[in-house]
Amino acid sequence: MTQLPHPPATIAVPPVSDVPRHVAIIMDGNGRWAKRRLLPRFAGHKRGVDAVRTTVRACVRRGIPFLTLFAFSSENWRRPAEEVSLLMKLFRTVLERDVDSLHTEGVCLKVVGDLSAFDDHLRLLIERSMEKTAGNTRLTLTIAANYGGRWDILQAVSAAFLANPELRDDPSRLTEVQLAQHLSMAYAPEPDLFIRTGGEQRISNFLLWQLAYTELYFVDTFWPDFSPQVLDRAIESYCNRERRFGRTSEQVEQGQVIPDYLSGAKTEC
Ligand code: IPE
Ligand code: IPE
Ligand code: MG
Repeated sequence: MTQLPHPPATIAVPPVSDVPRHVAIIMDGNGRWAKRRLLPRFAGHKRGVDAVRTTVRACVRRGIPFLTLFAFSSENWRRPAEEVSLLMKLFRTVLERDVDSLHTEGVCLKVVGDLSAFDDHLRLLIERSMEKTAGNTRLTLTIAANYGGRWDILQAVSAAFLANPELRDDPSRLTEVQLAQHLSMAYAPEPDLFIRTGGEQRISNFLLWQLAYTELYFVDTFWPDFSPQVLDRAIESYCNRERRFGRTSEQVEQGQVIPDYLSGAKTEC
């Protein structure tokens, strides 16, 4: 039986509503936004922070309970050292400046990724910010930093084998649920809506496991120009999708009850 608060979409058909429970965003296009204005790339990252603030508020107002933002990928270390160092500094500054107001707004902050690569000061700030906001329930804001979907799956596999020593005799018995319990975002439902700004149509090693049945939305807007209006257009597009999760349209229309083959319980579709 699962200890997961939200079973994977491949195990049980999740509830579908007009307000996505979880929006996950690749905030891309900061560099190009700056280049268009003949500014250094970092100016785009700085303006990107304003778009983060606006988007968090917009999600709170719309009653979206989970928002996940891709801030720095495991591959972004390949960028020029100066840009990486400025990005780390910006992350520190934002944590120092914004955590109190996030707390007041009822936001629970989580940071996922391989945090061992960050310096002690940044790690401590992350830890304190998460502790301070841990009891908040209005919106869970997850920042993916030094995050890679492949890293996440690998660390989850290792953790699942450590937690279930009986699997060593027969590794083929490892189940999706056993693995998913150890993913870094096991506390959240899988994203309903994925948005990537900046015009590229790729996943760039974001939530590889969790995006299995997510609705994808790509928009040309550069991240610093992202606004509640663009968010609403993405949500509108999401509302017009038929989420079938492997079933036929007819089954979805009839609201057919499907046995949840994990627990034997029935889930209404
Ligand atoms: C996204 O914007 C921010 C990070 C990856 C940190 P980019 O910096 O990738 O902007 P573009 O894609 O070069 O315009
Ligand atoms: C993805 O953007 C990572 C983040 C937004 C943090 P990138 O700009 O790094 O992605 P690629 O390199 O164009 O795929
Ligand atoms: Mg980019």
